[in-house]
Amino acid sequence: MGDDAVRFLPLDQLRRRRSVKWRTHPHDVLPVWVAEMDVAPAPVVAEALAQAVARGDTGYVHPGDLAEVYAAFSRQRYGWAPSPDRTSLVPDVMTGIAAVLRLVTAPGDRVVITPPVYPPFWSFTEHADRTVVEVDLRPDDGGHALDLDGLERAFTRGAAAFLLCNPHNPTGSVWDRPTLEAVADLADAHEVLVLADEVHAPLTHPGVEHVPFLSLDRPAAQRAIALVAASKGWNLPGLKAGMTLAGPDAPTAAIALPDVVQVGTGLFGVLAARAAFAHGGPWLRSLLAVLDDNRRLLGELLSTHLPAVRYRMPAATYLAWLDCSGLGLGDDPAQVFLDRGRVACNPGHTFGAPGRGFVRFNLGTSPALISEAVRRMAVAAGSS
Ligand SMILES: Cc1ncc(COP(=O)(O)O)c(C=O)c1O
Repeated sequence: MGDDAVRFLPLDQLRRRRSVKWRTHPHDVLPVWVAEMDVAPAPVVAEALAQAVARGDTGYVHPGDLAEVYAAFSRQRYGWAPSPDRTSLVPDVMTGIAAVLRLVTAPGDRVVITPPVYPPFWSFTEHADRTVVEVDLRPDDGGHALDLDGLERAFTRGAAAFLLCNPHNPTGSVWDRPTLEAVADLADAHEVLVLADEVHAPLTHPGVEHVPFLSLDRPAAQRAIALVAASKGWNLPGLKAGMTLAGPDAPTAAIALPDVVQVGTGLFGVLAARAAFAHGGPWLRSLLAVLDDNRRLLGELLSTHLPAVRYRMPAATYLAWLDCSGLGLGDDPAQVFLDRGRVACNPGHTFGAPGRGFVRFNLGTSPALISEAVRRMAVAAGSS
């Protein structure tokens, strides 16, 4: 096994974790919900953190060369590099989104989101006193697409900002270049500011292209702000470090965020992210290979044990969006899986109304635990 081989931990070791995934439910529940992976840390990240502990390097955050390191990573991986001068630290992506909304929009302004989508898109926007406007994704050839007509209608009615989620959580969709250009054209026509949440971009599966929104040759892209982090790709969400990337024509207030926002970032998060972006490429490649196996395995297990569940492999992320409406378990199948099967998925309805009858399943774990979770779900659904 090389240094960069990805290792999933067995259940007895995972049970010792103190994170929300492993502490929310009793011990007999198998958690396949929140977006944490069951991996051992990438060795380059573990080493950077071990060195920081050995140095007693537990002081206040300094960005170091994280912006430059990220720019090099982005150029190599996506063929485009942000300007380090317009990069700010944020404790995490959602705090960054809320901070940018507060800086560049006014209380009560309308902010468009596209359900089913990551639940904090509602809570953080509303906590910032902005008004959420929903434009549901539309079904598309067994998958999901952005509803460009719906976005146009919402933008025409007046919107200050659009929260673009790319790759999209929970569907695992990756929006292609023509779609993103169409979004940018609409944003230009209606003077809507795009905030692009690209936290899952490192987890785009081979053969699929992630196009950074800021890389588009469109005025809306030059005005946009993207949010990025190593937290999903290298499983570091508790360390608290993300970044905003502002386009050259972004509102001045969003180019360098105030200290009051940046200071909440964790130094360990910055050190871990730097190690990940500078040296974590080989580990990420191994991770994507095992996640590819996992997303295929889930499809096989579902067609054997729960054939009524509809599943389309995610093009990015380790999250699977399962349409369980064919099981006859009502609007909240996750509750049935939890009560009768002792397996915890995310309830689909928490991602918005289109999520009723769905669950989100986290396949960032070992094949053994994926199999066990599906077995439990099949028992709960009475189809085993
Ligand atoms: C779309 C999206 N944005 C943001 C986050 C959270 O990122 P952070 O912990 O950096 O706020 C997640 C976590 O799963 C997510 O799926």
